[in-house]
Amino acid sequence: MAQLSTRQLYLDHLAQTSNFPLLLEVDRAEGIYIYDTNGKRYYDLNSGISVSSIGHTHPKVIEAITTQASKHMHTMVYGEHVQTPQIAYAELLLPLLDSSLNNIYLLNSGSEVVETAMKLAKRATGRYELISAARAYHGSSQGSESLRSDYAYSSAFLPLLPGIKHITFNATPDLEKISCRTAAVIIEPIQAEAGVILPEEGYLQALRDRCDEVGALLILDEIQTGFGRTGQLFAHQKYKVLPDMLCIGKAMGGGMPIGGLIADKQLMRLFTKNPALGHITTFGGHPVTCAAATATLDVLTAGDIIDQVLEKETYIRRRLVHPIIKEVRSSGLMMAVELTKRKFLKHVVSLAFQKGALVDYFLFNDRSFRLAPPLIYTMKELELAMNLILEAMDEAAQKYTK
Ligand SMILES: Cc1ncc(COP(=O)(O)O)c(C=O)c1O
Repeated sequence: MAQLSTRQLYLDHLAQTSNFPLLLEVDRAEGIYIYDTNGKRYYDLNSGISVSSIGHTHPKVIEAITTQASKHMHTMVYGEHVQTPQIAYAELLLPLLDSSLNNIYLLNSGSEVVETAMKLAKRATGRYELISAARAYHGSSQGSESLRSDYAYSSAFLPLLPGIKHITFNATPDLEKISCRTAAVIIEPIQAEAGVILPEEGYLQALRDRCDEVGALLILDEIQTGFGRTGQLFAHQKYKVLPDMLCIGKAMGGGMPIGGLIADKQLMRLFTKNPALGHITTFGGHPVTCAAATATLDVLTAGDIIDQVLEKETYIRRRLVHPIIKEVRSSGLMMAVELTKRKFLKHVVSLAFQKGALVDYFLFNDRSFRLAPPLIYTMKELELAMNLILEAMDEAAQKYTK
């Protein structure tokens, strides 16, 4: 019997999330590159959706992982044993934040962080109404999924959580929907999956003020905007708006799965009583992922990686001039390239892929492609990668204009 290819085995044995997976057969990844099993090299311009900000397999992250793995891995569920990798991470990260964000709950994924934040908001306020922005993605678990505004999608999974309302991002009149029944508003400071929608001036502050007025908590989801992606360690620092809770994940672990909920200690302590063990996790704060996160943050903050983000953004924006580009929206190296016609999108993405440049779609924007390269690209590397993108656009324009 003929042997199945690895691709066929993958399609047979692994749960699929769509009928159109990218099917890049990964052999290895290093720095800004991913190599497939034929030895073809791809410029990673997505960072695995805003994860690999310091590049793939960073030597300091590998070293931290191997050192910690040989000392100890899991010893007990989160919150019982004193583990130095967790403390080291908290000691490195928390001083970089406002003094009100002084306590971290270490978790496994962005969705779990959002779940935990939703629970803490209900516990803290005694209210159950939660408000999120239309066209936001906060995760795929049932609680975080309930925040999605796209009813055509979520209706397949009913019943989801009751008490969820939506506001339109940047629509100040909608802030009236936030009331004394609202436990919390959860929002991204820059909407990622809607196709990089920046907050209008004063919007986030108006949101903060409205939350204060009615006693609702403000939860900022910086799972995608965090760790230097926008040119500051966190986007809320750029907009000078403080959340009651900050959700982090993705780039945090340098390629390892980890997330964190950050808040004031008094707020977080609510998980310890009435009931105790208000939120628990087996693997949250895993020592190996914490060691990876510490090494990642060390790399990000020790050098000038974040300082260079805006210069790289400017360079990319200058290069991305093309008849089929309608608009480029960006905050640092979180970018959306909107095309003049929807039909160009899939061709540009697939032509870029053929040429060895990985760009991707957004969940809620069918005219724009995502550019979120690792922050460590050199200018020369950016030049070469942009050449490929522009070639893909030339070809798409030539072949598919009619
Ligand atoms: C803004 C935002 N929040 C939450 C999540 C969910 O994170 P995870 O996929 O790690 O569960 C994502 C994932 O894309 C995200 O972009």
